[in-house]
Amino acid sequence: MLILGLESSCDETAAALVTGERQVLAHRLAGQEAAHRPYGGVVPEIAARAHVEVLQPLVEAALDEAGVALADVDAIAATAGPGLIGGVMVGLVTGKALAHAAGKPLIAVNHLEGHALSPRLADPDLAFPYMLLLVSGGHCQLLLVEGVARYRRLATTIDDAAGEAFDKTAKILGLGFPGGPAVERAAAQGNARAVPLPRPLKGSPEPHFSFAGLKAAVARAAPDHAAADVAASFQQAVVDCLIDRTRRALRVADGATALVVAGGVAANGGVRAALQALAAEDGLRFVAPPGWLCTDNAAMIAWAGAERFAAGLTDPLDTAARARWPL
Ligand code: KG4
Ligand code: ZN
Repeated sequence: MLILGLESSCDETAAALVTGERQVLAHRLAGQEAAHRPYGGVVPEIAARAHVEVLQPLVEAALDEAGVALADVDAIAATAGPGLIGGVMVGLVTGKALAHAAGKPLIAVNHLEGHALSPRLADPDLAFPYMLLLVSGGHCQLLLVEGVARYRRLATTIDDAAGEAFDKTAKILGLGFPGGPAVERAAAQGNARAVPLPRPLKGSPEPHFSFAGLKAAVARAAPDHAAADVAASFQQAVVDCLIDRTRRALRVADGATALVVAGGVAANGGVRAALQALAAEDGLRFVAPPGWLCTDNAAMIAWAGAERFAAGLTDPLDTAARARWPL
């Protein structure tokens, strides 16, 4: 089985070819950091236009790299949401056009499902059900992944996503854009105990996350402390919240065979190390995809497409793009 995957829901344009046997034959990615940097964040109009310009050449480059033709592909998987609607439409319409032209089925993939199943691309031994902490720029959720298209959401954020808090902290500290990796680098030079910061909802009987108060506390503390100390203290506060909420979810929902992390923030070394320790505490396997598979990419969309195709799930060509689409 050979699947072409397309991703364009935020500020990465990507195309990948992945087989049902977990071989990534090609994965191409064009970031847009330089275009958005002057604005300190992603500008939807600029993003959509950039996706239009680079997606088609990326698809051609991916097919070339894999040494296959569109006719060799079994299905075309495109992100159909959630995300910035202009960008999602570019990728989905491109997927529909390719599917129609080649006479292949379309698979409309939920971007979150791409993140949720990406650990199974990285690890052939990862079986259902698993506890997934999905932490990205737009989402912060705990999901019990019971199977393909079977996701039980146990917790979500009541305000900001963890990645959003990383990006905002970077902006406050003048560390630039994109923020997550910049905060992690600065944190490595700082003292995580230097700045007292809150751990919103830590210890709460409620299942959810909250990061808005932490973000506000960073803004208040920043002028009086070294940037590296604020970064380190902030990162530690996020890690403490993620661990506390994940530990609670593991107590409430049993049966998970592994603790898994995915999404852009899963690229953070501190987050990974703390989750690994939590998994060990519970005698669970810990699975984290490699960094390139955590941040947005098309291999995870192609893989989710492969999993859905194997389950007999394809979509009509009039499937609509969705800005909001809970798993
Ligand atoms: O999954 P992703 O690429 O896009 C979304 O679907 O949102 O996640 C992007 C988010 C951004 O907020 C970015 O700052 C964060 O992931 N991120 C990180 C790191 N790398 C990316 N956050 C913390 N540490 C990192 N190393
Ligand atoms: Zn994402």
